[in-house]
Amino acid sequence: MTRQLFVTTALPYANGPFHIGHIMEYIQADIWVRFQRMRGHEVKFVCADDTHGAPIMIAAEKAGQTPQAFVAGIAAGRKAYLDGFHIAFDHWHSTDAPENHELAQSIYLALREQGLIAERTIEQFFDPAKGMFLPDRFIKGECPKCGAKDQYGDNCEACGAVYSPTELKNPYSALSGATPVLKTSSHFFFRLSDPRCIEFLQQWTQSPGRLQPEVLNKISEWFGTGDDGAPKLADWDISRDAPYFGIRIPGTQDKYFYVWLDAPIGYLAALKGLLGAGFEAYVADPAVEQVHFIGKDIVTFHTLFWPATLHFSGRKIPNHIFVHGFITVSGEKMSKSRGTGISPLRYLEIGLNPQWLRYYIAAKLNARVEDIDFNAEDFVARVNSDLVGKYVNIASRAAGFIVKRFGGWLSADLGVEGRMLLDTLRAHADTLAQLYEEREFGKALREVMALADRVNEYVDRHKPWEIAKRAGEDEALHDVCSVCIEAFRLLTIYLKPVLPALAAQVEAFLQTGPLEWADAKRALGRHAIAPYQHLMQRADAAQVERLFETPEPPKPVPGGEEVAPEIVIGDFSKVDLRIARIVDAALVEGSDKLLRLTLDAGEGRLRNVFSGIRSAYAPEDLKGRLTVLVANLAPRKMKFGVSEGMVLAASHADEKAHPGIFLLDPAPGAQPGMRVR
Ligand code: MSP
Ligand code: ZN
Repeated sequence: MTRQLFVTTALPYANGPFHIGHIMEYIQADIWVRFQRMRGHEVKFVCADDTHGAPIMIAAEKAGQTPQAFVAGIAAGRKAYLDGFHIAFDHWHSTDAPENHELAQSIYLALREQGLIAERTIEQFFDPAKGMFLPDRFIKGECPKCGAKDQYGDNCEACGAVYSPTELKNPYSALSGATPVLKTSSHFFFRLSDPRCIEFLQQWTQSPGRLQPEVLNKISEWFGTGDDGAPKLADWDISRDAPYFGIRIPGTQDKYFYVWLDAPIGYLAALKGLLGAGFEAYVADPAVEQVHFIGKDIVTFHTLFWPATLHFSGRKIPNHIFVHGFITVSGEKMSKSRGTGISPLRYLEIGLNPQWLRYYIAAKLNARVEDIDFNAEDFVARVNSDLVGKYVNIASRAAGFIVKRFGGWLSADLGVEGRMLLDTLRAHADTLAQLYEEREFGKALREVMALADRVNEYVDRHKPWEIAKRAGEDEALHDVCSVCIEAFRLLTIYLKPVLPALAAQVEAFLQTGPLEWADAKRALGRHAIAPYQHLMQRADAAQVERLFETPEPPKPVPGGEEVAPEIVIGDFSKVDLRIARIVDAALVEGSDKLLRLTLDAGEGRLRNVFSGIRSAYAPEDLKGRLTVLVANLAPRKMKFGVSEGMVLAASHADEKAHPGIFLLDPAPGAQPGMRVR
């Protein structure tokens, strides 16, 4: 029976390029999808950029772009990675696309209809300078436990304490530096504590085959009641106040869905982007199996919030959530601050074969939630001994004789021993299929390599290169080499989900057309092959080492700070620099960094500018001096008043080691209001 499979990978945040962790997830899912297609099943395989939320909004602002332009820039970079690693999504979408806006709003309205949306007033930190509520990770302050400075709003990196942002001492906004104030706002909640939700989720999570045992184990803790008798499953806050980059909540002017509400709905939006008008019929079909591949860090969203969202909005629920562990590089966790270990694009740029990585990752993967490690030495050894030494070698040893001595024709006879060997290989088709189905890729590949070993033993026993030298043994040579080619074809079928491009080369060489799984049960028989062309290079350790080199070593620059990315003159002329006279300068009460400057930039009015130069200048030394003002900078509301521009000063990148701030000083004769260009 043909299965209908709707398969996704997690939607990556559109705030940066892919790292090796993303690629690993796509490789895992892509292998599974390719396997299903080889079995004759129909798969819709989609993904999308996860575009919404405060961090992306803020990153866009920092980059001087609208969030839409910012995420479009990220999306434009995706193809190089996906094509590069042979990841064959049917469609790549965006959670900011119209399909997702419509679906999120209609799903929300359906939940409301069910009485599962509650409105409640909550108190939250608000940044008065930015005019926005602050997500926990944008609030910093001193740890309430150990007093460590500059800790995030939810936990302390120094002592590990976990707390709420309101407990921080001397909290400040990481966006503006302003002191946040508590402000109330009304939020919408998804009432997960409703008995209907709890009952549904318990039943859904426990239905057999839905979740891996260790995942089920972990989430079972979330059910039941706490010491106070209330359900442990708390209602889920699904709204955020403007300004927010997201999807507006119907019936409100200034409230948006929290990004984690609309992100998984993006799976459906991506499918709709692929299917168009056929979408609703497809997702309503109970025969369709819905499968999500995700990493271990986002289990809660996919096993509680997402199925409940679907079920109570009257939609089909996921059939499987397949959770994988994390990939580390040389045993080290990837971190945003220290970079991401190895760059997938650099991998391609230095000419490493993408299929080596596919094979290596597949060989390490299993159906459990275990971390895997990328290790360069291990990588080179694996690829060379398995792929080149065991597999490709079989073809290269036999094909020459078939073409030179037998006009490319295979023998249909093969001999008893050869037929037995091939029967053994064919007999593994079902167990291997089972292993691929269960995502036991490592086990599957070990079995395939054990089969390759048997073929190589057969070759070593028969030594075709020696038979070839003896007169009158053409038939034996023909049989042995034909066995090798047929064995190679079978191994290629078993490896095809992992090595799609190599399999395509083999299909051309063996002149078979696209190999399906069922072709493992058939024999090639009398058949002609094309001349052998080299199929795969060995991996070279020195080449792989280049992965870990910094692409361009940063040039030492006087002052120790790297020069910013190149701009064109048009970029520069956007900045309006003017000569200004400091008519007054004063200390700012409550700040040991700032001076308040009153500036005349020849505009017939004076400007108020706060400048962080107090450590270097006394107010009276500044009065009457000329300096340079950024005149078209957006005014900024600060705790002490509005700052209408910025004066220019020089400082060392490492201000602690090289203190000093040096105000720019125009040469005598310059007049207030003159433009600096
Ligand atoms: N945007 C959310 C997912 C929304 S799904 C509706 C998100 N994005 S992410 O970019 O941070 O992560 C995307 C996927 O990559 C997740 O499945 C995550 O687990 C996975 N990985 C992130 N780092 C990883 C590794 N180091 N190793 C393997 N996978 C990792 O979460
Ligand atoms: Zn602490």
